[in-house]
Amino acid sequence: MQIGEFVLQNGLILPPIAGYSDIGMRMLCVRYGAELTFTEMVSAKGLVYNNENTKELLFTHDTEPIKAVQLFGREEDFFQKAIRHEALRPFDIIDINFGCPVNKIVRNGEGSALMKEPEQIYKIIKKCIEAADGRPVTGKIRAGFSQEWRNAVEVALAIQDAGGAMVTVHGRTRDMMYSGKADLEIIKEVKDAVSIPVTGNGDVCDRESYLRMLSTGVDGVAIARGAIGRPSIFSEVLGKGVQFEIKELVREHLDELLKYYPERVAVNNIKKHVACYVKGQRGAKQRKEQVFRAETTTQILDSFA
Ligand SMILES: Cc1cc2nc3c(=O)[nH]c(=O)nc-3n(C[C@H](O)[C@H](O)[C@H](O)COP(=O)(O)O)c2cc1C
Repeated sequence: MQIGEFVLQNGLILPPIAGYSDIGMRMLCVRYGAELTFTEMVSAKGLVYNNENTKELLFTHDTEPIKAVQLFGREEDFFQKAIRHEALRPFDIIDINFGCPVNKIVRNGEGSALMKEPEQIYKIIKKCIEAADGRPVTGKIRAGFSQEWRNAVEVALAIQDAGGAMVTVHGRTRDMMYSGKADLEIIKEVKDAVSIPVTGNGDVCDRESYLRMLSTGVDGVAIARGAIGRPSIFSEVLGKGVQFEIKELVREHLDELLKYYPERVAVNNIKKHVACYVKGQRGAKQRKEQVFRAETTTQILDSFA
């Protein structure tokens, strides 16, 4: 698929994952075949007000093949200011979040709350494009806000009409949060209705579910939870066998984080990833306990001795 000037061969994407899709996870996913990875969602307002925590989410590196950021917010003016902010200059693609189901976000009329306002989505995408200086703007949506409000097709058309370069559809409604099953039918309906590229998302965790998602005709496939603790998923879905040692994955992930964060922060950030890396392994419980007590990178790696 093509997003602006960026051509993807296999269409495999790591979507934004708050708390996880840091530069370390993104680089590992790229190594295993993801062609496009996103930062976790970043508050447009936080960026405009120069919130320090927000900036930490924006670390990126020249070796990232395509740099893509996701913003969330509500007012088009804040989106414009955020996109024009110098912190967003390194990014090639700007994605807007219309899917976050979390109460705190929805209460502010942000994330998936916007699914109920296709006109506002149209306005946001249009204004973002004005500010993006030629960079592609994409949107990430859900099937709808609720079972009574399954308007993914209408919203995808609004994104297309406003000039959006791609739409990712997570086949769940907001009221499902992350439970139940993603509906591939509505993803197919979106694909049939729009002419911009469509990325299908929801429940891809192996080659079988990947092929099922592809059968909807989508141009790209985004894998979120399946990639947490398992960046090799991107090779696996392509049918390529992969061999790796968890210790090596942890070491690489840590090395990547250490390029940006002080050791104390890198060590803290890696802990939740390690818990996912070792999940299901023999001795996972003791290893997790050891890792959660660690204060240095050496102590983290020694727990794999
Ligand atoms: C912990 C967590 C954090 C997430 N953070 C974001 C986010 O920041 N922005 C976003 O658009 N989606 C976010 N998502 C949604 C995922 O990108 C994805 O749409 C969803 O998990 C369904 O895909 P999956 O079945 O492959 O996990 C998050 C999901 C999880 C589980």
